[in-house]
Amino acid sequence: MEDRGILVVGSMNVDMVVKTSRIPSPGETLLGGVFQKFEGGKGANQAVAANAICRGAHFCAGIGDDSFGREYLSYLRGRGIDVSLVKTFSDCATGVALITVAADGQNAITVAPGANMMLSESDMEGIDFSKFSHALFQLENDLSTVARGLKLARKAGCETVLTPAPAKILPEEMLPDIDYIVPNEIEILQIVPECSDAESAAQKLISSGVRNVIVTLGKRGCDLYNGGGKKHFPTYEKIRPVDTVGAGDCFTGSFAAGLKVCGSLEGAIELATAAASLKVSKMGAQSVASLEEVRLLMSQK
Ligand code: RIB
Repeated sequence: MEDRGILVVGSMNVDMVVKTSRIPSPGETLLGGVFQKFEGGKGANQAVAANAICRGAHFCAGIGDDSFGREYLSYLRGRGIDVSLVKTFSDCATGVALITVAADGQNAITVAPGANMMLSESDMEGIDFSKFSHALFQLENDLSTVARGLKLARKAGCETVLTPAPAKILPEEMLPDIDYIVPNEIEILQIVPECSDAESAAQKLISSGVRNVIVTLGKRGCDLYNGGGKKHFPTYEKIRPVDTVGAGDCFTGSFAAGLKVCGSLEGAIELATAAASLKVSKMGAQSVASLEEVRLLMSQK
């Protein structure tokens, strides 16, 4: 039987990045370093990360009929990603993100989503989700599109993964369609605002139908919550962070691929942790390591 691949439905942004000593305060002007342009967007970042671990990822997104969109598409093809589900919207610009990266690797991002917001529920209805083993979503598309995609993917037998970023309150009926939700420690409190700590927010999501909650904690690793309780996974503290943009996306894309490659939830989280640790050592949201490099780091722990 043909192996079902990983599908990422999400955003494509061109990242305009300036490195500075620190994130500027409101109203402040800072002189930064050299301007750099990278491929980004949470969806594309996850597709590239998944494809680095498990070849043959598929990607669905919206782009504008412009040079940013066309160049980006041919770059993704060059990386071996199937982009046949990417749609071009003629009256829209391709998404752009303005990013400041501070000396300690932290970042501040503003996104002009453009064509990412044009992807619709009917685009989700046009996808044969039964071809895929895993379907990944984020929130840089319209919420109703994401909700419809999650429902159809789960109905077709996919395991579903949601990155709730940028964070917004999720409709109650969306929650049972989520096998894995992967917020960071700020996002989990934004999506469950009635809770004051990550653990009670995770429990609330689980009691509402989400099967697994993975809270990413930056250089402290991540916590997994599910019916089996809570488990902490540490990270690789010796790696010096240069650029944390896309680290969470690298974690999530690698995690989904890890579910296929490792065959276990804990193995997938360990692999994703190592992949995200390597990503932060390089500039650019899609500067991801190969499976061999990730395994080498894991063997040195
Ligand atoms: O998660 C990082 C991503 O957020 C960047 O690549 C940027 O494009 C925004 O979507």
